[in-house]
Amino acid sequence: MQEYKKLNAVITGVGMFVPEKVMDNAYFESIIDTSDEWITTRTGIKERRKLENGATSDMAAKAILDLLKSKNMSAEEIDVIIIPTATPDMLFPATACIVQRKVGAVNAWGFDLLAACSGFLFALQVGRSLIESGSYKKVIVCGSDKMTSITDYTDRNTCILFGDASAAVLLEPTEDLSIGIQDSILKVDGNGEEHLHMKGGGSLNPPTHETVDKKMHYIYQDGKAVYKAAVPGMANVSYEIMQKNNLTSDDVAYLVPHQANLRIIDATAKRMGVGKEKVMININKYGNTTTATIPLCLTEYSRNGKLKKGDKIILAAFGAGYTWGSMYIVWGMD
Ligand code: COA
Repeated sequence: MQEYKKLNAVITGVGMFVPEKVMDNAYFESIIDTSDEWITTRTGIKERRKLENGATSDMAAKAILDLLKSKNMSAEEIDVIIIPTATPDMLFPATACIVQRKVGAVNAWGFDLLAACSGFLFALQVGRSLIESGSYKKVIVCGSDKMTSITDYTDRNTCILFGDASAAVLLEPTEDLSIGIQDSILKVDGNGEEHLHMKGGGSLNPPTHETVDKKMHYIYQDGKAVYKAAVPGMANVSYEIMQKNNLTSDDVAYLVPHQANLRIIDATAKRMGVGKEKVMININKYGNTTTATIPLCLTEYSRNGKLKKGDKIILAAFGAGYTWGSMYIVWGMD
């Protein structure tokens, strides 16, 4: 009988793309009734980016090409491309197919995954399984979202929150089980639909003049309801994964949280008992970029030398669905 070696999936490459155009809080003061002070204290956001031309796939292709360049790797080596996104270029084909063409990944297959702000975590879990099974050797997971395409810039409750970006990781197998993805806890609760959704454009409400007039092609969020679910959701699952893996707050090098609101992030860190210096933050610069927030953090902290091989990190997210979860990873890149 053939013996199968246990493999871990480890992140061996990172890449990112953020559009040039910056929308700062002063810009929002000029278009809606708000203030820099309100936005900063309630959310922690100072700036976000806007893609002026192009689509989600263009940002994803640029993030993946950035990753390939940093690894000196050819697109032909990629086996699988998974694109978690809430803003696909079209309803079909999958954005992953368009990205495959744009980067020239001629040997890859791929698909999109929809889990809103938890999309990157869910996709990482799928990518991990493809690697651990021994079936694939190079899997790209690229969170990419053009949130400005579904944001109503007359709705002050939501428009200040979101931005556009893309970031990617490469997963490869390793026989060194002390590094790579160690554990995950992932959850959904469909009762969340009521509080956070985009109702128009799908099979329930195909586009009509009426769906456009009723603004059904924009994000709807009951911020208070989502906030109330997100704080315990993200905090508890992050604490739970520490308990499950016998990790103390001293063991944890970084919390890598989804960046929806600095207050939700602070509550999660507090529950885990980790100090602010151990929390990766980019919400001030980019706002909520949905599936890109976590890989953007990983790329920036890895490239600026703050994230080192052997660091134990906890990823955590909460989003529409509701979807939420946490992941425990031992960083494997030098
Ligand atoms: N500028 C100024 N005032 C604003 C505003 C803005 N941009 N947006 C809302 N307000 C007002 C509201 O109208 C409300 O006024 P009222 O009390 O007169 O009705 C007041 O500020 C407080 O609103 P509230 O909804 O209680 O604010 P909040 O402290 O909950 O913060 C969010 C709002 C959206 C930042 C917050 O609820 C949040 O982050 N929610 C969760 C987001 C999330 O995690 N999403 C999941 C992943 S996408």
